[in-house]
Amino acid sequence: MLNTNTSFSKKQQITVPGDKSISHRSVLFSSLAQGKSEISGFLEGEDPKNTMKCFSELGVRFESLGQGRYLVQSPGKHRLVSPRDVLDFGNAGTGIRLSAGLLAGLPQISAIVTGDASLRKRPMARIMDPLQAMGADIRSISGDGKAPLQIQGKQLSNYSYKSPIASAQIKSALVLAALSSDISIDYEESELSRDHTENMIRFLGGNLEQISPLRFLLSPPYEFEGTSFVIPGDLSSASFYIVLALCAKGEPTIITGVGLNPSRIGILTVLQRMGGKIEISNPRRECGEEIGDLVIYPSKLHRIEIEEALIPSIIDEIPILTIAGLFSENGFSIRHAKELRAKESDRISAMVLNLRKLGVAVTEFDDGYEFDETKEIQSAQIDTFMDHRIAMSFSILAKLSGVDLKIDDVSWVDTSFPGFFELLKKF
Ligand code: S3P
Repeated sequence: MLNTNTSFSKKQQITVPGDKSISHRSVLFSSLAQGKSEISGFLEGEDPKNTMKCFSELGVRFESLGQGRYLVQSPGKHRLVSPRDVLDFGNAGTGIRLSAGLLAGLPQISAIVTGDASLRKRPMARIMDPLQAMGADIRSISGDGKAPLQIQGKQLSNYSYKSPIASAQIKSALVLAALSSDISIDYEESELSRDHTENMIRFLGGNLEQISPLRFLLSPPYEFEGTSFVIPGDLSSASFYIVLALCAKGEPTIITGVGLNPSRIGILTVLQRMGGKIEISNPRRECGEEIGDLVIYPSKLHRIEIEEALIPSIIDEIPILTIAGLFSENGFSIRHAKELRAKESDRISAMVLNLRKLGVAVTEFDDGYEFDETKEIQSAQIDTFMDHRIAMSFSILAKLSGVDLKIDDVSWVDTSFPGFFELLKKF
């Protein structure tokens, strides 16, 4: 395994910015609700800020009350208005897919939704097909199943869907369409994807009946009132510093106020099974979500097999988990993760290409990759492919290994983790 170049002489205590998934949802739910809401802990990253900007074009007012704090004033879902311009969600799959669902169920809305070059390459048929089956008028303008998408809102019909993909974005797009159109939805998935949308509906007093661990029935009425949304720190962002803290030497690191939703904590399970010592302290609940503090001790890691059922709960953390694999005995393997090819970049090819540049002998599969124990890496230029998590993962590798890695474009980090590099300098 690679040698660590990093040793912490004193205990560090840090926080990470607000959860990206919940920040997007706080905009959508405060827009659906009528009246005033307050948001705190909002991620001031490009992705959720784009979603906020799009909803302000639909008639919702967001007033900044300071860092991560907003006062929201919504006319209510029936009084949202068509935007004058194309709605641009930038780099955010969550922003465009969830918003497309919400807008598709509002008959007064006519809109075009799009994003940057990375987002315009990502598959949208996965939401368009079931939305059309609910009666939605949504189509890809170029006919290739990708954004830009033209949406003419409609009154949709009750729907029952068994998703072939364990995706919270698909699940949430259909649920938000149901909320807009005041219809019921019976939804089932193959593995549990993150359930922040369900938690938020329960928190708002909605009628969501869990039929089995992977199936629920959501039924009207959905007359939500404005409320106070408190957003925890993002575990996906924390995972970069968790891996740094585990693979370094010396004193432990504490990360406070992190979201620990059970459908997201696969990264902790996997790292603990790899030999990582991570403790949870001060567990609490806020806005229907579990939160806690993490204490991370430098640890000796080793290779494990990661089973398919865990993949949805680690899907965003696989790039940084791979970096932990470089510091592990016997190397690293990830399979059953074909969904990685549909992220901000094709994360299987992006990781394989960059690791090979470093001299790591990686075998690529359709659904993952693997490498044996790595003794050393060479300096190289890293291609981020417009993907924040690729940029941050290799920045952590550069820090831990001391090897000079030139990352082609680090600006993507601002989509999810503004302040990432300032924080890294503190270690
Ligand atoms: C998200 C769901 C996941 C995740 C993404 C955020 C969400 O995507 O990768 O970063 O907030 O619902 P999929 O639903 O496509 O797996």
